[in-house]
Amino acid sequence: EKGGYEHFMLKEIFEQPKSIQDTLRGRLLVNEGIIKMAGIWDHLERINKAERIIIIACGTSWHAGLIGEYLIEEFARIPVEVEYASEFRYRNPIITNKDVVIAISQSGETADTMAAIKLAKEKGAFIYGICNVVDSSISRYSDAGSYTHAGPEIGVASTKAFTAQLTILSLIALKLGKHNGNLSNAEFMNLITELDNIPKKVEDVLNSTHEYVKKISKDFVSATNFLYLGRGFNFPAALEGALKLKEISYIHAEGYPAAEMKHGPIALIDENMPIVIIAPKKGHYDKIVSNVQEIKARKGKVIAVVNYGDEQVSSMADYVIEIPETSECFSPIVASIPLQLMAYYIAVYRGANVDQPRNLAKSVTVE
Ligand code: F6R
Repeated sequence: EKGGYEHFMLKEIFEQPKSIQDTLRGRLLVNEGIIKMAGIWDHLERINKAERIIIIACGTSWHAGLIGEYLIEEFARIPVEVEYASEFRYRNPIITNKDVVIAISQSGETADTMAAIKLAKEKGAFIYGICNVVDSSISRYSDAGSYTHAGPEIGVASTKAFTAQLTILSLIALKLGKHNGNLSNAEFMNLITELDNIPKKVEDVLNSTHEYVKKISKDFVSATNFLYLGRGFNFPAALEGALKLKEISYIHAEGYPAAEMKHGPIALIDENMPIVIIAPKKGHYDKIVSNVQEIKARKGKVIAVVNYGDEQVSSMADYVIEIPETSECFSPIVASIPLQLMAYYIAVYRGANVDQPRNLAKSVTVE
């Protein structure tokens, strides 16, 4: 059942080229130059005329939502807010029938997310569900939606469901942007061509980083804290990297936008602090270079996720994980892979139960 892998989590990490491809299949038709999504197409007017899109989720799905915000605002130019379901439902939110709510949930059963969309629906919002489990409560309650076709996710730590969520959100943002005229045909074609390359790049990154990440993970078994930093689209990827590590290895980790470091976390940096920094060429690279300089001046241990052939960040970093280049908007998908592997191996070396971490449940059906 684990297909020869030691844990479901590792199996699911390695399934990602396929799960992303399965999520794109039948939707991304590059040769015809279209994205086919019935859930969006049937309600295009409602969604594209939304005054606001509110993305509601918990945990890893909330991190996907943050990247969804960047994607939708960038390509469709519709204002987006991202809310923790548990906060939204209890704070008397302003919501009208001109709002569209996107609920993201792997299980489709998360109690807080379900309660939040009920509240939003009562106030007239249109509910779009992005779920992995077919016929789950959230998918049934939604007015429309798209399934992520990641297949069953058994490991408690979400991996392939997360990258499938990013895939769906990319498709939605690009489709909306194309139909509302914010994306030119040429821009749209470039982006969908690159999105089509993502399963292959994910496969490449799995093959090229697996052994190296496995090896360096040994160096961190005794770490007590980690920082994860990224900017732009990769800021939420840093949050997700930190969540993966803490939930399965029980090492305290925090994700931050790299520029926020100097507003507090920089005080933590010394020679004992490992800092994962996501620094692909496209997306605020020069700014990240200065962040790395600031970290090295305080002797932090830098684990840099960079593109092949990178020089500046790599020359300063203690560990260099190379990933293929892609558009900035899709880079969180590719950059997340080595971070998942690193969390996995650190947890395994610490003897933790990676598939069933203590205190956690796969589907949080109580609030
Ligand atoms: C983290 C993780 C949780 C879930 C969260 C929401 O790896 O799995 O943070 O993402 O409980 O679950 P869903 O997506 O099922 O609503």
